[in-house]
Amino acid sequence: MARFGALILAALLGAVAAQAQTTPPPAPRPQLRFGFYKHSCPPAEVIVRDAVRNAIIANPGLGAGLIRMAFHDCFVQGCDASILLDPTPANLRPEKVSGPNFPSMRGFDVIDAAKAALERFCPGVVSCADVVQFAARDAAFFLSGFRVDYKLPAGRLDGRVSLESEALAFLPPPSFNLSELVDSFKVKGLDIDDLVVLSGSHTIGRSHCSSFSDRISMPPSDMDPGMAFVLKGECPANPNFTKDPTVVQDFVTPDKLDNQYYKNVLKHKVLFNSDAALLTSTQTARKVVENAFVRGRWEKKFAKAMVKMAAV
Ligand code: HEM
Repeated sequence: MARFGALILAALLGAVAAQAQTTPPPAPRPQLRFGFYKHSCPPAEVIVRDAVRNAIIANPGLGAGLIRMAFHDCFVQGCDASILLDPTPANLRPEKVSGPNFPSMRGFDVIDAAKAALERFCPGVVSCADVVQFAARDAAFFLSGFRVDYKLPAGRLDGRVSLESEALAFLPPPSFNLSELVDSFKVKGLDIDDLVVLSGSHTIGRSHCSSFSDRISMPPSDMDPGMAFVLKGECPANPNFTKDPTVVQDFVTPDKLDNQYYKNVLKHKVLFNSDAALLTSTQTARKVVENAFVRGRWEKKFAKAMVKMAAV
């Protein structure tokens, strides 16, 4: 009997040893801290802010792109700049070419410009993952008229894994209902409040017609009929890759990062099912009302939620 027990123990130990050989060690979890580049590259955050300022002066839409880029980076493999990786012969289909990112994602040139300037001052010091999150923070700062103003801990590491399949698996599509949205945020450690607060980003930027065409065709959705009528005029009946115009997301203050989004949600004047879904539970509807009407509340919450998302 003792011999049998020893055999089982040996088999178990063997299995553990074999697994230790075949399973790669988990990626190190970076310790994020404020002022991470204070000594190694003092002008780092100023350099990124300058690049973002220049870009937004030329085209505010790039700021919207940068905020969306931070979200799409963090939801796939964590905030590790995996969204920036181009296709290579070894990896033909990285995140960048996936449906949620191509061709709609914009702002890559701004990240390149910031990174190029950083390399001149402090070569090889600042991670691209931090640049992406700093750039989103700065875009929020400028587009909100300096009202969304937050400090961001840094020290993220750049990843090398970037797969189209993971972008498709983890980035919620605009057709999602509330429980699907809640689940997709929960997987990333974000809660319902984060979902409601971060969705407020849809107060800026644009969308391609293909992202909401189901909501303006038959059968009618809960979209405000007047808005649906206008959108029908701006979008082809069947948008496709060669014919897919864009419209602004917030018709009232299209380039301002403000709480107008929540007023639009309440009036059913939003593009996506995922936006409209925020009214489908009393819990989220109440949060929509608060963000719409309690002055200054959303801006504060947005800053906090962006910091939380940037730690994924
Ligand atoms: C809750 C789930 C979400 C869904 C389903 C969703 C979906 C979308 C879609 C379909 C577009 C339009 C893309 C296009 O056709 O051009 C878009 C745009 C945008 N999204 Fe989201 N999004 C979500 C959450 C977020 C979050 C969390 C953020 C940021 C924190 C964000 C920021 C933006 C911004 C700024 C734009 C405009 C981008 C531009 O103008 O280039 N979204 N989103």
